Amino acid sequence: MEPRARGRRSFTYRLATLVGIALVAVFALAACGDANSPYSTISPRTSEANDIQFLYKVLFYMALVVFVGVQAAIVYTVLRFRRRSDEDERPEQIHGNKTLEIVWTIIPAVVLLVIFIPTVRTLYDRQNEVDAGGDLTVEVYGKQWWWEIHYTDPSNVANVITANEVHVPAGKRVLFKLYSNNVIHSFWVPQLSGKMDVIPGHVNELTITTTDPGVYYGECAEFCGDAHAWMRFQVIVEPEDQFNNWIAAWNAGPTKRSGDIAAGGDVSKVPPSFGICLACHRVNGTNASVAPIGLDETEPSGSELGTAQTAGPNLTLFGCRSTIAAGILPNTPENLAKWLHDPGAIKEGTYMASQIKPGVLKPEQINQLVDYLESLTPEGGCPPITGENADLETRPNLASGQPGTPAASPAASLFTASPTAQANAGASPAAASGGQTAEIGMNDIYFNPNVITIPADTPVPITITNHGATLHNFSVTDHKNPNVKNLNISVDVNPGASTTVTVNAPAGTYYFYCDVPGHEAAGMFGYLEVQAGAAISTAEKTVTPPPGS
Ligand code: CUA
Repeated sequence: MEPRARGRRSFTYRLATLVGIALVAVFALAACGDANSPYSTISPRTSEANDIQFLYKVLFYMALVVFVGVQAAIVYTVLRFRRRSDEDERPEQIHGNKTLEIVWTIIPAVVLLVIFIPTVRTLYDRQNEVDAGGDLTVEVYGKQWWWEIHYTDPSNVANVITANEVHVPAGKRVLFKLYSNNVIHSFWVPQLSGKMDVIPGHVNELTITTTDPGVYYGECAEFCGDAHAWMRFQVIVEPEDQFNNWIAAWNAGPTKRSGDIAAGGDVSKVPPSFGICLACHRVNGTNASVAPIGLDETEPSGSELGTAQTAGPNLTLFGCRSTIAAGILPNTPENLAKWLHDPGAIKEGTYMASQIKPGVLKPEQINQLVDYLESLTPEGGCPPITGENADLETRPNLASGQPGTPAASPAASLFTASPTAQANAGASPAAASGGQTAEIGMNDIYFNPNVITIPADTPVPITITNHGATLHNFSVTDHKNPNVKNLNISVDVNPGASTTVTVNAPAGTYYFYCDVPGHEAAGMFGYLEVQAGAAISTAEKTVTPPPGS
C-alpha cells in the first residue's frame, strides 16, 4: 500500500500547483487589460472599432469554449483513467478510429468557418466604406519618427498641414490615406479602428466614423527604427463649429507674438532665434514659409525613399499641442527648453539632433524660442478638450473655462502686434538720422529697418549688424532682375557680427536682399533710396520685391 499512497499525494500536490500557476497567470493577464486605458483595444468608440471588437469577441469565446473543453477532457481523462494500483492492466491500445478522425476534423472546420464568415464580411464592409469616400479626407505621412497630417478635402480644409494631432469633426466619416517615404509604419488608434500599415510606394486607406467628442490616442504599431516607440499621435474629435474655428485659426497663423519684445512683435515675422529652424519648420501666416513639406510633389506619391526627409513638423498653433516630439514629453515651457537644448538626448535618432546639439542655441535664444512657440495659440486660447479621455489631457494654453486652465499670462498681451512699435526697432535711429552712418539690422529672416534713405553721390557708410542666429548676406545686385540697379555689393555677415559697406551711388531706388538660399523668398529684402541732398534715415515698411524679380 505504501507506493500507492505516495502516488496519490504527489498527484494531488501537482494538480494544486498547476491550478495555482494558472490562477496567477489569469490575474497577471487581467492586469494588462485595463479597459480604461486610452490605448485599450477593448473599449471601442466607433462603428469600425465595434466591428473589430465583435470579431474579437467571436474569436475569444470560441477559443474559450475550445480551451475549457480540452482542459476538461484532459482533467477528466487523467482522473478517470489514471493507474490506480500496480495490478492495473495496461489499457487496450487503439490506432485509427474513423469516427474520431471525422469528428476532430469537422469541429475545427466549423470553428474556422464561424470565424471566417464575419471576418470576410467585415473586410468587405470596410472596403465599401473606403470606396464610398469620406466627408473629410486626411492624408497621413509616416515620418521617422512623427506623423504629418495633410487635409485635402473638402476645399475649406485643403492645405492644412499639421503634425501628430488630427483634429476631426464629430459625427463624420473621415477617410485616411496613408503614405510613407521611408520605411513601413502602422497607423493605429485602438479605440477608433484597427491597425493599417503605412507602406512606401503604396497608399493604404481606412475610414473612421467619429461619434463622441474626445481625444483618442494612437501610435505606430510597426517597428520602424530608433524612435518607433515615440511615434505617437492623437485624434481629437470635436464639435463641428469648434473644428471649423481650429481650421480658421490654423490658416490665419499667430495673432500675437511673444519672445522678442525688442523686435516689436510683428506677428508676420518669426523672432530672430527662429532663423536656424526655418529650413525645416513652418509657421503659417509668418515668414517661416520656406521649409519643404511632405513628399516631393514631382514624385508619384509615396515612391521616393527619403525625399524631403529633413522637413520637420509645421509649428502653427504649437502652443496647443499636448506633447513635444510625437509624445515623448508633455508640452511645457520647461520641457521645450530641454528639447531645444539637446533633442538627441531626449529622442534617440531624431533628425533635429543633426542640427541642434548642446550649445548651438544659446540660453537667451532658447528662452526666446520657448516664449514664441508657446505663444502660438488661437485668439482666446486653444480649443477645449471635452469628452472621452479629456481627463487625461494636460495640454497647455486651453481656452478659459476648461478645467485646469492656467491663468492667461499677463505678459502675452504685451506682444500683440502693433504696426508702429516695430518701426526702427533693432537699429539706432539717432546714429542713422544725425550721423554719417546708416545702420541696418539683420534678423532671422528679415531686415529691420528695411528701407534706407541716403544722399546721392556721397560716400555713406552703412553698418549692417546681424542680430540673428544664422549667416546673412547683404546684396545690391540685379541677380534676378535686370531692371533694378546693380551696385555689385555682396557681403556676408555672421551671427552677432557687424560689417560696414560704403555706398556712393547716383540717385535712384535700389533693391537689396539676403543672398542666403531661401531668405529672400522668405521676405528678407528691402530698398535703398538714394536722393539728392537727403538726410540719412531708416524705416521699417511693408515692402514687396520689384516687379520681374
Ligand atoms: Cu513608425 Cu514604428
